[in-house]
Amino acid sequence: MTTPQETHTPAPTASVTLPVLTGSEGEKALDISRLRKETGLVTLDEGYMNTASCRSGITYLDGERGILRYRGYPIEQLAAKSRFVEVAYLLMYGELPTKRELNDFSGLLNNSSLIHEDMRHFFTAFPNHAHPMAILTTMVASLSSFYPVPEKPTDEEEKQIIANLVSQMRTIAAFSYKKFIGEPMIYPSYRLRFVENFLNMMFSSPVQNYQQDPDIVKAIDTFLILHADHEQNCSTSAVRLAGSSEANIYAVISAGVSALWGRLHGGANQAVISTLDEILSSGDDGRRFIEDAKSGKARLMGFGHRVYKTFDPRAKIMKELCHKLLSKPGMSDPMFDIAMRLEEAALSDEYFLSRNLYPNVDFYSGLILKAAGIPFNMFTVLFAIGRTPGWLAHWREMRHDAGARIARPRQIYVGPPERAYTALSERSGTIVRRESDTVRLVPLADTPIGIVKPKRFVETTRAAGMVPMPPEEASTSGDSGHIA
Ligand code: ACO
Repeated sequence: MTTPQETHTPAPTASVTLPVLTGSEGEKALDISRLRKETGLVTLDEGYMNTASCRSGITYLDGERGILRYRGYPIEQLAAKSRFVEVAYLLMYGELPTKRELNDFSGLLNNSSLIHEDMRHFFTAFPNHAHPMAILTTMVASLSSFYPVPEKPTDEEEKQIIANLVSQMRTIAAFSYKKFIGEPMIYPSYRLRFVENFLNMMFSSPVQNYQQDPDIVKAIDTFLILHADHEQNCSTSAVRLAGSSEANIYAVISAGVSALWGRLHGGANQAVISTLDEILSSGDDGRRFIEDAKSGKARLMGFGHRVYKTFDPRAKIMKELCHKLLSKPGMSDPMFDIAMRLEEAALSDEYFLSRNLYPNVDFYSGLILKAAGIPFNMFTVLFAIGRTPGWLAHWREMRHDAGARIARPRQIYVGPPERAYTALSERSGTIVRRESDTVRLVPLADTPIGIVKPKRFVETTRAAGMVPMPPEEASTSGDSGHIA
């Protein structure tokens, strides 16, 4: 039997020189890809608080300054001037489309909007009141059996796969809602644009035509734009992780849908409305809830973000939209007043200020969806429709990256050391842990390892990513020093 000490890989070496990379917006990253090979050490970064998992040229976000840009274009400009279909093209292919490219892309989305007729039978097999996210994740994965994907899709095939997913996600979403309320499914129409089409599939019925309201259409379009990408968030990382094994793209996107479902991620918009509803029906004006959030009894959903340490720029746009939509005759909502009061109270409270907890996109997005008549359990589904172009853009970026590898993180094992198998008859059922079984994580303060910055920072030469500086250039100026 080996002792824990004997199982360790090479003893740490005295020092290692690691390159510092610079992104196109000047952000710095320590490239540790050679660390284990040269020192026997790995890094531990639970929740990936400090880890860049890839190089990406799709979305730039600066959480300290509240900046979000898709392919360099500020989110505020895209939300004000663009449409979701155009933004989807931009994310996917890197440039805003010309008129002709946009027409072609819209046409392809239209032609791809039907799902195979046999798939409609699947919907009937789900129990009544199945959560639409459960249906969505299942149906998206099953698209793989109706639309086989070649092992190495050509560019044309890839375009079709992308169009299928962007377009069919919307059809599946609307069908799952119809299943939920027990109404017949309404087919997509070539006469309607992306958002109108979706709303029509949701709300028209054989006995009643849905009347489109341009303000609602604009609000939903903006919602989709704001959700279209957010670099390496939980669901996008799930897509990259699953996609890195070259799994079927429909299964990969289904993994993204599953990761999105959780209340700490895409499920938060639904959770915000539950919170507001709870506050409203309890007669609280928000103050009691704020106290509960501070004491840990409750969590103020829609507040806080892993990367934004100031206002989420998407929340600002959503808040303005809320004002606009809810000031229309007959559309006011007491939940909006509660939300504003909560925001005001939180933003003047030491607890929230000291932890940089500001409203995130979900704080107001649920109110927009509610005003548009979208049922509560469809909120996260709409997020998924919006995020699909982002997931696909990351999948495409990874697919075309010659250096892409299967994602496979390491771990720090903290379980029992090797032990002999105990026969069933000898097991007491009591877990006896000897002191020697406990693996302790000892800080490396005394380990003689220095991480040395290269002499000069690397400058970016490619818009899409960071380029390591050639070793011979790395020693020409005096910018060096020990980090550890
Ligand atoms: N309400 C009250 N306290 C909070 C909140 C909140 N919404 N968010 C964080 N905190 C507190 C934590 O309790 C912690 O306090 P402590 O330092 O005293 O322990 C501190 O702020 C840091 O919080 P973490 O949970 O460590 O932050 P993390 O970066 O891991 O989590 C997250 C970010 C998950 C978004 C968190 O802020 C949260 O749960 N917010 C509510 C859910 C939500 O709105 N999610 C949507 C995110 S946006 C999106 O996915 C589109």
